[in-house]
Amino acid sequence: MYWPKLTSDKIKKRVTAALNENVNYRETIILGTPATYLDDEVFYNDAPFLKNAPFLSTLIANPNHIGCHTLNGAERIFKGTQELEKELIKLCAEQIFGGKADAQDGYVASGGTEANIEAMWIYRNYFISKYKAKINEIGVIYSEDSHYSLSKGSNILNINPIMISVEKNNRKLILPDLKKKVESALAKGKKYFIVNMNMSTTMFGSVDDIDKVTEFLNKSKIIYKLHVDAAFGGFIYPFSKPGNSFTFKNPNITSFTIDAHKMLQTPYGTGIFLIRKDYIQYVKTSEAQYVPGADHTLCGSRSGANAVAVWMVLHNHGSEGWKTKMKSLVDRTTDVCCLLDELGIRYFRNKNINIIAIHASDIPAAVAEKYFLVADSHENEPQWWKIVVMPHITMGAIDSFIQDLKSEHKPKGKSKEKTTR
Ligand SMILES: Cc1ncc(COP(=O)(O)O)c(C=O)c1O
Repeated sequence: MYWPKLTSDKIKKRVTAALNENVNYRETIILGTPATYLDDEVFYNDAPFLKNAPFLSTLIANPNHIGCHTLNGAERIFKGTQELEKELIKLCAEQIFGGKADAQDGYVASGGTEANIEAMWIYRNYFISKYKAKINEIGVIYSEDSHYSLSKGSNILNINPIMISVEKNNRKLILPDLKKKVESALAKGKKYFIVNMNMSTTMFGSVDDIDKVTEFLNKSKIIYKLHVDAAFGGFIYPFSKPGNSFTFKNPNITSFTIDAHKMLQTPYGTGIFLIRKDYIQYVKTSEAQYVPGADHTLCGSRSGANAVAVWMVLHNHGSEGWKTKMKSLVDRTTDVCCLLDELGIRYFRNKNINIIAIHASDIPAAVAEKYFLVADSHENEPQWWKIVVMPHITMGAIDSFIQDLKSEHKPKGKSKEKTTR
């Protein structure tokens, strides 16, 4: 895994060159687009600082990245910044997820929700097209800890969700439950399965045991396509646990969701969808005749500034810098766990992820609320409160939280629950 760290001057020059390759609404007569630069009374483009602010300059120039640019047929007007998006997708697919050169497609989606639904949409259409599957013959397998976008997607696409239970304390998928539910689905006429594996769940940071799941599916000769929801873990787990099974080198995996607007600290609207070549065509909307190359995305129009932001952050750090940054977050999370251990507070934590899910019965709700911990449920009594050790969380903030816990806390648990994967 390698990509270079660039100086801010080089980053600025590369983005400016990309913007200059775009056709500029201010300099060229563009009569046909239902779009233009941002409102120039509010977002005026002659502010002196913009010369040194390539992301804001891109935002103001307002390029539209509609469509999928790893396929042929780019929009002529915004080809400079669309090329940067292509570079970004290539970097993520090949350097972070071990894909072969030019063997993946992808785009910067609105977020993890869209990228997950895009995957489900592709595989639903793939089964219909390749196997003449009927809608009621397709099932979507995911764990009960999966993000709710899996349920949302099943609902929108009218395909049947098959939710697999997890062990309550270590959040591992219960394999006998998977087997039982797949057998039952087969008996009820399901023939094709969309499988989601989590490379970090939202609430727990747990990582599904993909090898055990695919071993079972392959041995049972199940027809499936597997998507990895790495919306949370995609920019941390590959760096904190290199050599894991979640890469394009794993033939069982076809696609990934990775969200830059989580760990990478880019603006919202920077979910990333990656998929092996020859699949995204299953969601080609040919009716999108005014879009060069038609549209293969769920969202339609989207800001080119988002792709630029992700490209800039990745190149500001380089692969080595990013690895160091993620290691320091994981280490800080371990430090918090040590402090919780001293208090006898029980929690779940994957040692390669920066999420700690604390047993609700071990921590006073008032403290959890004071520090904005997130509960597993707002409708029912919380069972868990989670801490996500993001870059703004200093050890000073943690000390203050621990002090409050010490003054209020009566330990109930004996030991922590943790996973070692
Ligand atoms: C694992 C996982 N998948 C998907 C999503 C959805 O991402 P977004 O809110 O960007 O749509 C999230 C968000 O927290 C997540 O944690």
